[in-house]
Amino acid sequence: MEKYVIHGGNKLNGTINISGAKNAALAIIPAALFAREKCRIENVPDISDVRTMTKILRYLGAEVSNPEKGVLVIDGKNVKPLTITDEMTRKLRASYYLLGVLLGEFGQAAVALPGGCYFGVRPVDQHIKGFEALGATVSTENAVINATCDELVASSIYLDVVSVGATMNVMLAAVKAKGKTVIENAAREPHIVDLANFLNSMGADIRGAGTEVIKIRGVEELHGCTYSIIPDQIEAGTYMVAAAAVGGDVIINNVIPKHLESITNKLEDCGVTVIEEDESVRVISEGCRPRACRVKTTPHPGFPTDMQPQFATLLCTCNGTSTVVEDVWDNRFKYVDQLRRMGANIIVNGDTALITGVDKLHAAPVEADDLRAGAAMVIAGLMADGETSVGNIKLIDRGYEDLVEKLTAVGADISRVTFEED
Ligand code: UD1
Repeated sequence: MEKYVIHGGNKLNGTINISGAKNAALAIIPAALFAREKCRIENVPDISDVRTMTKILRYLGAEVSNPEKGVLVIDGKNVKPLTITDEMTRKLRASYYLLGVLLGEFGQAAVALPGGCYFGVRPVDQHIKGFEALGATVSTENAVINATCDELVASSIYLDVVSVGATMNVMLAAVKAKGKTVIENAAREPHIVDLANFLNSMGADIRGAGTEVIKIRGVEELHGCTYSIIPDQIEAGTYMVAAAAVGGDVIINNVIPKHLESITNKLEDCGVTVIEEDESVRVISEGCRPRACRVKTTPHPGFPTDMQPQFATLLCTCNGTSTVVEDVWDNRFKYVDQLRRMGANIIVNGDTALITGVDKLHAAPVEADDLRAGAAMVIAGLMADGETSVGNIKLIDRGYEDLVEKLTAVGADISRVTFEED
């Protein structure tokens, strides 16, 4: 087993280079199977979720090589729509994108219900609604979703909730459907635009990604391409918050500052200085107690739910009482018990956490409850005096490339330690 051991209190100074976006990569990698030839995908993050996804692709018959760091070459010419079992999908929520891809390409897909982080019920009804509107028959047996069709025919689909996963999955299924599909009430996250750009560079005809209405004119064939994934908004936000929380002067490099605006605005509300450059943001913080503020998570362009645990951690030492409202997921405050072990004063009532700032967090052994909660524990460890250990870090490995190396390079005292399980 492995854990992080962190000696908190160091200020952070220097530059952190941000990797490619996890949530874009996890849709773009399976989408490469639409080509019967090679796709070269660049700026791919080296994280365990990507490794899990490439393992599933190989099982389906794809040739996947990794000729250099950050590059995957995927050849889907021998792919077959085999059943993807629970063993493969358990660790990976994004495995559900293979439903859209295999249905769109072969007219049949069988994928076990997805796993991933647990923060409340995570339904897929909107994905299924979209597939059915395109003419597929969808059933669930023994926890495997089966989708089949003779042919997919374009349709107008209004999503009842703004869902990143459903928007991308319906977009994938519709890319070769006959006619023009319209997705209304679509999610607008940057990775939705990235998936659309990738598919368009394979020959698809998708317009409006990044707005609430996406129009997809089906094409007969998609071809190979070379594509570079956008930088990871959440990885960048995590390091911005870490720098704000402990103090220092950190340049977060290889980012699209526009994607970070909601995070930048909240940091500024807390009294942190953020300077935007073309491809970087610089975070300057005294590391003293931030001003209390109110944060509410909403779909893009609002404050991202995947930044909620990290930001709440920063607010643990705020001056006064902050309010954090989680409006996307039902159960995303489980991690606050870990912060309470470190001295945080947090009261959770339904979708709202009230955080009354304390002078300092103190070190304690804590666990990563899920991917972003794990990142929050790392930030808490950097803020606290003394030695904090963070367990269950395989969950953090799902989404952060070279976390120890990146933080060490800017002056943090963090290491990865192997230990025997009791
Ligand atoms: C993706 C991200 C996840 C992030 C989330 C919201 C990936 C792999 N994961 O998850 O990190 O937290 O976006 O930004 O990209 N919903 C339904 N029916 C559905 C689908 C969703 O009711 O069919 C609801 C969910 O319960 C939730 C909300 O819609 O309340 C948003 O979910 P969604 O955007 O679909 O999240 P994911 O795509 O699973």
